Order: sequence, then C-alpha cells, then structure tokens
Amino acid sequence: MISASRTPPHNVLFMPTASTLDTRALAVSLEDVARTFPAATRGGIPRRVLRDVSLEIAPGEIVALIGASGSGKSTLLRQVSGLDHPDSGSVLIGGTPLVGVDQRCAVAFQEPRLLPWRTIAHNVELGLPHGTPRAEGKARVAELLELVQLSDAAELRPRQISGGMAQRASLARALARGPGVLLLDEPFGALDALTRLTMQDLLLDIHAAEAATILFVTHDVEEALYLADRVVLLGVEQGYKPDSGAVIRSVITVPGKRPRDRSDASLAHLRVQLLEGLGVSTHHPPHTF
Ligand SMILES: Nc1ncnc2c1ncn2[C@@H]1O[C@H](COP(=O)(O)OP(=O)(O)OP(=O)(O)O)[C@@H](O)[C@H]1O
Ligand SMILES: [Mg+2]
Repeated sequence: MISASRTPPHNVLFMPTASTLDTRALAVSLEDVARTFPAATRGGIPRRVLRDVSLEIAPGEIVALIGASGSGKSTLLRQVSGLDHPDSGSVLIGGTPLVGVDQRCAVAFQEPRLLPWRTIAHNVELGLPHGTPRAEGKARVAELLELVQLSDAAELRPRQISGGMAQRASLARALARGPGVLLLDEPFGALDALTRLTMQDLLLDIHAAEAATILFVTHDVEEALYLADRVVLLGVEQGYKPDSGAVIRSVITVPGKRPRDRSDASLAHLRVQLLEGLGVSTHHPPHTF
C-alpha cells in the first residue's frame, strides 16, 4: 500500500502529489452549502437545488445520502468533490478548503465509465496520481485488483467482463490515488440484486483495507442501513415549494457495529422512518374489486 506520513498543513491550500497522498481518511465539513442553477431558457426561473446544507463527517465514517429523485444528491456529491462549486457556504476536506477537482477525493458513478480500449489493469492505472513511479504504480494496481477480486481479469477489456466486475474495476480506479474521501453516486444501482449484496460486502472490505471516509448515494434503504454509520435524508422541507432547495431533513445514526445482520429486526423502525421520509407508504392498502 502506498502511504506517506505527511499530513496536509492546516489552513493552506493543499495540492497533493504522489508523495504527499496517503490513504488516511479525512473529515468532510459542509457549512451552509447552497447551489442554484441558472435558468435553462431566457426568461426562465433559476433552479435552487440546495440550501443551507451543513454536515460534519468524521474521518473514516460511512455516510449514506438518500432522497427522492431530483432532490439534489448528485449535486451535493459534486460540491464535495469539487466537480461543481456552491454559490455560498463552504466545503472543507481534512480541515482545508477544496482545491479544484480535489485530488483528496475520488468519485465513482453508477456506470463504471471504463475506457473500452484499455485493459482492466490499465483502466485502474488511470486513477494513480501523476508522477507515481512505474514500479510503485504497478504494485498498487495489482494490490487493488486483488482487493476487488479482479486479479484474473487484469488483462481483459471492459467488453469481456460482467457489469459487477466493471463496477469493481471502477472502484479500484477510484481507490488508486489513495483518496481520503471516497464519493460514490449510486455505485450499485445498475447491478442485479444478488451482485449488489456481494458488492456491499466488498465495499466494507475496501473500507477496512483503505481507511477512506465514504459518502455514498443510494435509493436503497436496506443498503443504507446495512452499510452506513449515519443515513442523511435530503429533501425539500414539508410545506415548502419544490424549488425552495433541498435541506438535510433528518440524520439517522444506525445502531450496532458492522457487519450488520441483514435481517436485524431492530432496524425495522428505521426502515419505516426512512421510507416515510422518502414519501413511500409502508402500508399499501389491499385492492378491493
Ligand atoms: N448542471 C446543472 N444545470 C442545471 N440544473 C441542474 C444541473 N445539475 C443538476 N440540475 C438539477 O438539479 C436537480 C437535482 O439534480 P440531482 O442530479 O442532484 O438529483 P438527484 O437527487 O441526484 O436525482 P437522482 O436520484 O435522480 O439521481 C434536478 O432538478 C436537476 O435538473
Ligand atoms: Mg443522482
């Protein structure tokens, strides 16, 4: 594992290089983050997506972000990664402001986005920090392929592997630079139910091995309760207009240590609470014909 003993200095802009990056988990701090998108058409109305989003995530914590479709989950993740910037409020990683598309964070999406002409090993290699010495990079890629159980597929191309394998390759690529924060946008959303369960366990193995803070988006309440320390529900406040901007409506601390029992009855009330927060009725009345 590539690691370095240096910690980024506080309150100065931090531009990581291969030698300063490490796999140590970093805190994420959001304070009053707001984001409005300009109107799509002339004379149209700007779209306020996020307002007053404040959240402290401890180093090494796993946080699930859930919310209705269009509630701003991906937008929030983009603010944390530096792929987009808030109109107001601040985002700190490890106590210091974001630097561009911040190299201390890594993002993986619902679709694996692998380059079809490159082998799996070469795709993972793309995630390494610039300037990584060749031998060191090769060892890191081999280590990550082993972690995601793809050693045997290293020389295959994306079209020769399954969807679950492609998603594992995408995770390995995200981990290649040893991110302090791993941001996952519905990482298992495109996978079948069975593969999804295996991937959830793999994510826990990754968390144990790589010590990153994880913020992930999911629509799956069960997945959130199985993986996360806390579940954050994003949505528009009750009684407010849809374009008033999403806020954090509730934060649920999931009791019990991981790995959790999937059939744990004590989580049932949290499941109901989250589903109701998502506007899903948990008591579907029977049809009367
Ligand atoms: N770059 C952009 N320009 C304009 N509007 C945008 C932009 N990005 C997102 N939006 C709008 O912001 C809102 C929230 O989008 P976002 O993708 O964050 O939702 P989401 O919660 O991730 O939804 P889903 O669960 O369907 O992925 C949507 O109405 C979307 O159209
Ligand atoms: Mg989204």
